[in-house]
Amino acid sequence: MAALDPCTFVIFGATGNLSRTKLLPALYHLEAAGRLPERCRIVGFGRRSWDDARWAEEVRAAVERRKRAGQEGMDEEVWERFAGRLAFVGGDLTDPGSFERLRARLEDGFPPNLVLYLAVGPREFGVAADGIARCGLAREDRGWRRLVIEKPFGYDLESAEALDERLHRHYGEHQLYRIDHYLGKGTIQNILVFRFANLLLEPLWNRHYIDHVQITHAETRGIEGRAGYYDGTGALRDMIQSHLLQVLTLVAMEPPASLEAESLRDEKVKVLRSIRPISQAAVHAHAFRAQYTAGEIGGERVPGYLEEPGVPPHSATETYAALKLYIDNWRWRNIPFFLRTGKRMAADNALIAIRFKHVPQQLFRATPIERLPPNWILMNLQPMECLRMELQVKEPGLELRAETTRLDASYCGVGQYDLDAYELLLLDVIAGDQSLFLRYDEVAWAWRVVDPVLRVWASEREYVHTYPAGSWGPPEAGRLFEREDQDWRDTL
Ligand code: BG6
Repeated sequence: MAALDPCTFVIFGATGNLSRTKLLPALYHLEAAGRLPERCRIVGFGRRSWDDARWAEEVRAAVERRKRAGQEGMDEEVWERFAGRLAFVGGDLTDPGSFERLRARLEDGFPPNLVLYLAVGPREFGVAADGIARCGLAREDRGWRRLVIEKPFGYDLESAEALDERLHRHYGEHQLYRIDHYLGKGTIQNILVFRFANLLLEPLWNRHYIDHVQITHAETRGIEGRAGYYDGTGALRDMIQSHLLQVLTLVAMEPPASLEAESLRDEKVKVLRSIRPISQAAVHAHAFRAQYTAGEIGGERVPGYLEEPGVPPHSATETYAALKLYIDNWRWRNIPFFLRTGKRMAADNALIAIRFKHVPQQLFRATPIERLPPNWILMNLQPMECLRMELQVKEPGLELRAETTRLDASYCGVGQYDLDAYELLLLDVIAGDQSLFLRYDEVAWAWRVVDPVLRVWASEREYVHTYPAGSWGPPEAGRLFEREDQDWRDTL
């Protein structure tokens, strides 16, 4: 393990949701694992007029809220080390004076290599990046400077293009880390190993044997006070344009020439470019949206989306989205890929489900085995990482009956290492490894896939399907399937 450069980690939007729920706990866990560079400082930049001590209290509270399973109290020794790295600068992204104050503070003995993390709303990416550059913090004359940008990168292709152009006025491509935290998840990385380190699968991994692919991210959480962000974004932009399309590229791509960032990104872009464009007239056949109403989660009543604080009373924003896509290449032509996500669903589960075709011969027709269920390969991302194959075997006994047996990889559910995707990705930024970050053309092609749907949905705001919180979404979403024997696969 090469030693990482000393650096200063600056979080813009330090008091926001992402910083509190993901970034600070991830940095703390890296501290506990001894993985932060020895001379690493963590600077929060936010609108509050806090001093360093007050910020440290807030950070402690945020870290305590995200305790690992089985972790008792705070490890005071680790906390002391971590707290010693923290500093806070109060300021406003639209005020050049605030950036000057930040620069002056950083010159006061902080390591000059900078990770500049934009944990702010997508509308503020441009203004924050400009402010950083104008006060000289993007210049790499004294150390490296890396800008981390969250998603969604723009609202559609046009705005993404404008944002990219704006960033490139001050930053080189090697400085831009467009983060998609899904790429830091263990099972996502396992897709490449599973597919390309095993000879067994490759002959089957195509339109001759696979019936369809489903990629689902379901969560029981609502919008958690993020109406300001979520209502202008919706599930299609929040989850599908970014995370789920990235998963699709890994499931569908050809083997890359090497594991280097550019080779991987080239192959992912090839998949995105091959996705059949959805014409305006075909949007209803390919896309489905819905919004949650009040319901019950874990035995508790929860409000509907329209009752969430900050949501406009007639909002048509979707909290559930499903999309059917075809990849027009030799491997996948006419095989549907179903992408689906929803908030306030029945369970927290993310799953890639690959359904195989039926066997070609009805050999068992004259036996008690009437209909053979198809084979599945299931890759569960969370809450439990698991790889499972479903096969048919003979039931024990005198009769020739079949039953589905499950071959679970031995790691399923046991000794899982509770690593958050952000931990891995933050280390990659510090190490300067861009392979798990998006190149702009990936983002642009992903917008080209969803833009036609977004345009139709934006113009049709009178009626949106609903589903009660705590359910698996509206049954009408099943209309995306092509045949009766296809259905959603919710969990393992
Ligand atoms: C984020 C979305 O990118 O991903 C959230 O903005 C969503 O709305 C989250 O809840 C899901 O990711 P994870 O890793 O928490 O399941």
